[in-house]
Amino acid sequence: MSLCTGTIRGERKPERDMPGSGQKTVLVTGCSSGIGLKIAVRLAKDPQRRYQVIATMRDLRKKGSLEEAAGDCMGSTLMVAQLDVCSDESVTRCLTAIPHCRVDVVVNNAGVGQIGPIESLTIDDMKKVFETNFFGTVRVIKAVLPDMKRKRSGHIVVISSVMGLQGVMFNDVYAASKFAIEGFCESLAVQLLQFNIFVSMVEPGPVNTGFEVKLMEEVSWSDFPGTDTETLRCFKETYLPAAREIFATIGQSPETVAKVTADLISMERPDFRRQTNPLYTPLTALKYADKTGNLSVRTLYNLMFRHRMLFRLSLGFLKCLTCSCFHGRISPT
Ligand SMILES: NC(=O)c1ccc[n+]([C@@H]2O[C@H](COP(=O)([O-])OP(=O)(O)OC[C@H]3O[C@@H](n4cnc5c(N)ncnc54)[C@H](OP(=O)(O)O)[C@@H]3O)[C@@H](O)[C@H]2O)c1
Repeated sequence: MSLCTGTIRGERKPERDMPGSGQKTVLVTGCSSGIGLKIAVRLAKDPQRRYQVIATMRDLRKKGSLEEAAGDCMGSTLMVAQLDVCSDESVTRCLTAIPHCRVDVVVNNAGVGQIGPIESLTIDDMKKVFETNFFGTVRVIKAVLPDMKRKRSGHIVVISSVMGLQGVMFNDVYAASKFAIEGFCESLAVQLLQFNIFVSMVEPGPVNTGFEVKLMEEVSWSDFPGTDTETLRCFKETYLPAAREIFATIGQSPETVAKVTADLISMERPDFRRQTNPLYTPLTALKYADKTGNLSVRTLYNLMFRHRMLFRLSLGFLKCLTCSCFHGRISPT
């Protein structure tokens, strides 16, 4: 049974109930900030007006930044709607309000992070990460799938992470939630091709959004109950400074991730996987280069604990490689 009957409620009414001919309806989750906001605005401002964007967020009181960034697109190529990926009722209500339930592309962006020694995290804390990053994404995909299958067309995009391919210490549960969604989507993608539905995983490395800021704030007030002093020292004195350095040196902007996502959405036959930061490709390739798996685990261990200077130097080198003045200097013209 189709969910669709109505129109998006509560926000400025769209100029048209249905997208213009050739226009695609794109639903994006988690648009109150960061990557989701940038994706929604970039698609809504598409010079060829190829998209009608339904930018969703769980708390509409946070829509100010999105409205400001969208400017004239509001009510024209961009509408705002409430959607909490952790609630069946909210997902159903949002989809029911879309005219003719037409979702051509869904961008599953909503996500939460978690860092810290696992000894200090309760199982409930860990389940919350899976509720959003895994089950939240699955809930939205399940809701749009029947209509996409009926139409025999659609594109499911998931903002995953390089941590969906390569684990990173003290990000154990977050990485697990992204690995889980990678496995889910890799399996689903095969079945869906016969319905002409494409699945794409966008895998950013570090991105400078509120995501990391929120995590750093959370750890600043936690006293990490149940964690031994050696592990805590390792987290505070090795992991946290390294994470800050990595974000400061090779962190990307959310605009870059939005561009990669928009490029994928514009493809006729979109790729399954797209890493946004080429600097991470060698890291994720290490695990496939050695079938024992030791190479990637031991390389990361050595870089973090034994050859800290090498780690710093390689970050400096990578920063230099990606610096625009360096590009200028090696440019052939
Ligand atoms: N930043 C990075 O370094 C990085 C790297 C790789 C992948 N990613 C992934 O990129 C995605 C976006 O992250 P970001 O960096 O843009 O961080 P962000 O600015 O914190 O954005 C996360 C968004 O998800 C929303 N959200 C959280 N729980 C939700 C729920 N239950 N229902 C609906 N929306 C919910 C947040 O809404 P509220 O404002 O209501 O909390 C916010 O809009 C995430 O999936 C993240 O895992 C980020």
